[in-house]
Amino acid sequence: NAVIGTVRTVLGWVPSQWLPGGTPDPLIERRAAIGQQASRLDGPAKVSGQARFAADVAMAGLSYATLVHSPITRGRITKLESGAAEAAPGVILVMTYHNMPRLGIVPMIGGTNLSAAGNSALPTMQGPDIWYNGQVVAMVLAETQEQADYAASLIEIDYREDSAKTSFENAKPDSRAPASVLFEKNHVSIGNAEQELNRAAFKVDNIYRTPGHNHNAIELHAVTVAWDGDTVLLHDATQAISATASAIAKLFNLKNEQVRVLSPLVGGGFGGKAFWDHQIIAVAAAKLAARPVRLILSRDSVYRMIGGRSPSEQRVAVGADAEGKFTSIIHTGYSIMPPYAACPEPYTLGTRAIYKSKSFEIIQRYLDLDIVPNTFMRAPGEAIGTFALENAVDELAHEMGLDPIELRLRNEPEKHPISGATFSQHATRQAYLDGAERFGWEQREARPGARRDGEWRIGMGCASGGFPYVRMPGVNIRIELRRDGSAKISCSAQEMGMGTATVQTQHAADRLGLPVEAISFELGDSALPVAPMAGGSSQTASLSGAVIAGAERLTIELLRLAGNDSPIAGLRAGEVQLAKEGIASLDDPSRYESFRSIMARASRDEVTVTASGSPPLEMFKFAMHSSSAIFCQLRVSDVTGEIRVDRMLGSFDCGTILNPKTAASQFKGGMIMGLGLALTEETLFDERSGRIMNASLADYHVPSHLDVPEIDVIWTGIPDPRSPLGARGIGEIGITGVAAAVANAVFNATGTRVRDLPITLDKVL
Ligand code: MOS
Repeated sequence: NAVIGTVRTVLGWVPSQWLPGGTPDPLIERRAAIGQQASRLDGPAKVSGQARFAADVAMAGLSYATLVHSPITRGRITKLESGAAEAAPGVILVMTYHNMPRLGIVPMIGGTNLSAAGNSALPTMQGPDIWYNGQVVAMVLAETQEQADYAASLIEIDYREDSAKTSFENAKPDSRAPASVLFEKNHVSIGNAEQELNRAAFKVDNIYRTPGHNHNAIELHAVTVAWDGDTVLLHDATQAISATASAIAKLFNLKNEQVRVLSPLVGGGFGGKAFWDHQIIAVAAAKLAARPVRLILSRDSVYRMIGGRSPSEQRVAVGADAEGKFTSIIHTGYSIMPPYAACPEPYTLGTRAIYKSKSFEIIQRYLDLDIVPNTFMRAPGEAIGTFALENAVDELAHEMGLDPIELRLRNEPEKHPISGATFSQHATRQAYLDGAERFGWEQREARPGARRDGEWRIGMGCASGGFPYVRMPGVNIRIELRRDGSAKISCSAQEMGMGTATVQTQHAADRLGLPVEAISFELGDSALPVAPMAGGSSQTASLSGAVIAGAERLTIELLRLAGNDSPIAGLRAGEVQLAKEGIASLDDPSRYESFRSIMARASRDEVTVTASGSPPLEMFKFAMHSSSAIFCQLRVSDVTGEIRVDRMLGSFDCGTILNPKTAASQFKGGMIMGLGLALTEETLFDERSGRIMNASLADYHVPSHLDVPEIDVIWTGIPDPRSPLGARGIGEIGITGVAAAVANAVFNATGTRVRDLPITLDKVL
C-alpha cells in the first residue's frame, strides 16, 4: 500500500498526456469492427460438439486417475496400506507421499502465497501431515476410470487426529478462545467515524453474514498429461496458462522450454481454475507410470481440494445528516484466510469507491481456520461486500423516508472518496437514471407489503455494484502480418467462454486496418508470448494494451521497409495510421501505401513483430472504477415464504462496450451467479469435523434455468479516455449488487429485512 501510495503521488505530478492512455485511444472514435454484435468465434465448435476441452483430448495408452482425500482435518497419517489397491484389476500405480517425487519450490510473489500460479502454499503429497479436511493423500492410476475409482476405495489409511481450528465464531478475537486473527488489511480511517455515527441524524448499524461458497464451473477441473522424454505436455483447464507452465517447471526442476501447457478452451473459471494440487499430481503420476494420465476431478473432489469463497461477518454502519449526506461509513468484519491461502476476499473494496462520506472506518480482519485454502470467486470481496453495504443504504433510505435511488445520488462522489484521485470516467448517476426508467421504478410502492397478487406479495429493490479497472503488466504479443492481407496475433491468453479471441479479433481488425475475416487470434498455449492469467476482469484491457504496442511496433517496421520510394516516405510513426490495409498519413490521407505493396517491394512474405503492453500507469494516477445499478422485482408467497424473482435489470457504466453480444452474456452470467449468491448457494460446513457437508450439485444449489427470470442489461457505453479502447473490465461486475437488490426487494415485498445470505424461505416467513 505504501508503494502504491508513493507511485500515486509521483504520478500525480506527471502530466496526463505523458501516461499510457494520456491521449485517448484514437480507436474510441474510429470504431468499425469494435462495437459490432459479433458471435463468439468458438461458438460453432462448441454447439456442434467439435470443441476439445482438457479432458477430451484423445491419446494412445491413456490412463485414468482418481484422488483420495483426507477425512480428518488436522493430524498425521500413521498407517497407509495400499497393497489391496495395487493388486486390484487394472491398477497401474498408487501414489502417496511415500513415492511422490520430491518437489522443488515455487517462490512467493510479492509477499503473498500466490506461488507463481498457485492457490495454496502447502506442499503436495510430500509428507504425512494433514492440514485440512479434503487434502489429497493418495492417487490411484488405472486402465479405466472405474478401475481407478474402485481401487481407491481399497486404500486403508489410519490417522492421528489433532485438534483443529474449525469454528468461525471461536476464531474471533472477541470470543473466549485464543485469538487467531491473522492480520488486518487495508485499514482506512478518515475522520472519526464512530463519533460521527453517534451524532448522525439518521443511522443504521448492523451485522451482515454471508456463507462460504464453492466453485461449480460446468467443466470440472481436468488435466491430460503426457511426458515425451524430458519434456511434459499438459492439456489443462486453467485460467493461468503461462504461470501454470512456469510453476510446473519450478516444481519438477525443469527448464521453461521443457513444459508446455495447452488450454485453448476452458469451460468456466470464475477464479477457481488456476493452479492446484491436481496438475502437480498428474504430472508426477505420468512421470512415475511412464504413461499419459488423465485426471478429471469429481464434483466431490472439486469441493474438497479447490477452495471457494470465504464466509464473512461484516459490520456496516452508515450515518447521514438531515439532508441525507453521509457523515459516517463504517465497514469492518471477518473473513477466513489461512496463512497458506492467497485470496483476501476484500469485501470492503467497493465501500472505498461507491460513496462519499465525511468519515470512514474500513478494516478487514482475517481468521485462520484449518480449511481448504479459500480462493478467488467472481468479484471476490465486492460480491458479498456490496450485499452488506447496499442492504444498509436501503435500510437508511427507508428510515429517512427517502427513495433509495435519491439517497444514493445525494452521495455520489465527485472524486475517489478515499484516494482523492480524479475519476477517469464515472457515470453512476446516468446508470441509475437510465435503469430506473427502463425498469419502471416509479411503479414501486415505498411502503413495504403494499403490493399483492393473491398469496404473493410483490416488491422491488435496487442496489449499486462496482468493480475496479485493472490492466496487467507483462502482456506479450506477436503480430504476423502476411503479404496475402491476413494477420495472425499470438499470445498465451485464456478463453474461458467470455469471448477473448472474438473481441481481440474485432480490436485487431480496427487497429491494423484490416477486415475482421483477415485476423486470426491464437491463444491458449504457453509456447506463445507470455501473458498474465485471466483474472480481475483485466484480460481484455491487458490484451488490448499489448495489441496497441504491437501495432506501434508493426508501424515502425513497415515504415522502415517502405523506405524512400514510398508515398509515405519520410513520415514517422506518430504521423501515420494503419488503415484500409495499408499505411496512410494522418494529415494527408492521399499519401498511402498498402501493406501488400510495401511487402512486395521489400520482397517479404510476412512482417512479424513482438511487443509488450505499456506499464499500466493510468490505474495508479486515476480512479478507474466501473459501477452498476441493479434492479429486481420479485414475489414472496405468504403461505410458504417462497421467493420468485420476476425480473432483473442491470444498468452498467463500464466504458466502451466492445461487443454487445458477448458483453450482455457476461453481465447476465454475473447476475445469474448473483442470484445464486442471494437465494440458493451455501457451503454447509460442519464445524465439529471441519468437513464440507454438501459437496455435490444435488445439495449445493446453483440457479437452474427455471430459477432465472427475464434479465435485461443496458449500459452507458461512455468511453473511458484513460484505457485502451475506452473499455474497462466486465467479467465480474455483474454479480456485484445483485444480492442486495434481491434482499431490498424482499424487504419491499414483506417488510422483513434479511441480513444473512442466502435468503431462504425460513428467513422471510
Ligand atoms: Mo476472477 S475471481 O479474478 O477469475
